[in-house]
Amino acid sequence: MSKYTIDTATSRATPTPAPMKRVTAPAVRARKGGDPLVMLTAYDVRMAQLLDPHCDMLLVGDSLGQVVYGLPSTVPVTLEMMAAHGAAVVRGSWHAMVVIDMPFGSYEASPADAFASAARLLKETGAAAVKLEGGEAMAETIAFLSKRGIPVMAHIGLTPQAVNQLGGYGARGRGEAEAARILADARAVGDAGCFAMVVEGVVEPVAAAVTEAVGCPTIGIGASPRCDGQVLVSEDMLGMFDRVPRFVQRYEELAGRISAAAERFAGEVRTRTFPSAEQIYQG
Ligand code: KIV
Repeated sequence: MSKYTIDTATSRATPTPAPMKRVTAPAVRARKGGDPLVMLTAYDVRMAQLLDPHCDMLLVGDSLGQVVYGLPSTVPVTLEMMAAHGAAVVRGSWHAMVVIDMPFGSYEASPADAFASAARLLKETGAAAVKLEGGEAMAETIAFLSKRGIPVMAHIGLTPQAVNQLGGYGARGRGEAEAARILADARAVGDAGCFAMVVEGVVEPVAAAVTEAVGCPTIGIGASPRCDGQVLVSEDMLGMFDRVPRFVQRYEELAGRISAAAERFAGEVRTRTFPSAEQIYQG
């Protein structure tokens, strides 16, 4: 494990004593079938600083629509939002590869549109790769970007940007036909050249079949341990929300701790016990 100090003046996670290189797309691809890949979402500089030493990849997920902005889904998220948060995450990290989500509407219409959006995100943020949702229908776009120097992480199975078409966020791949479609999606995006793919919300046999079928690493979320790595939304695993999907493991209960701290602060302000002598500038 590398040691990091946090330089709060520059917001950079600074490794000590010897500088390390960031994880790269080829390095991620080479981990197929090897040590499991670790990815967590980050949307801001401080979270990036804290997560960076422990992760191979930080994902600036469009889940920020719900988590940060209180939107009902990822559909309203814009390129501007992604660019602002992506730049903060890059400033707050040093070691992990930063992958940034292409928001709904910024890439589906044509490969040329996708290139313009992806190039803008990489230029404005310093992120090293983009992620986009979709299977066979996105294969041409993934090939177009990959051949032009933009590493693409695919995202198949449950694709939240398609919630209006899917009708909800239920697990995918239960019937034979749907399982076959997901496998075909995986093969298509793999053949198109994605360096890794998120496999979201699929039943275990489908996750296993996909992982076996493709030459790049699969990163599961709600997709069993039969993937080459795992990703979670950080706020879910930190216990920031009352309700989380079944596949989430909470590693902390931050919501309760934050609420308790705010309650103590409020109590001390109201009883005039804060600020105390220690926090007062003397004349
Ligand atoms: O937006 C996001 O956070 C994601 C993960 C759930 C994989 O796409």
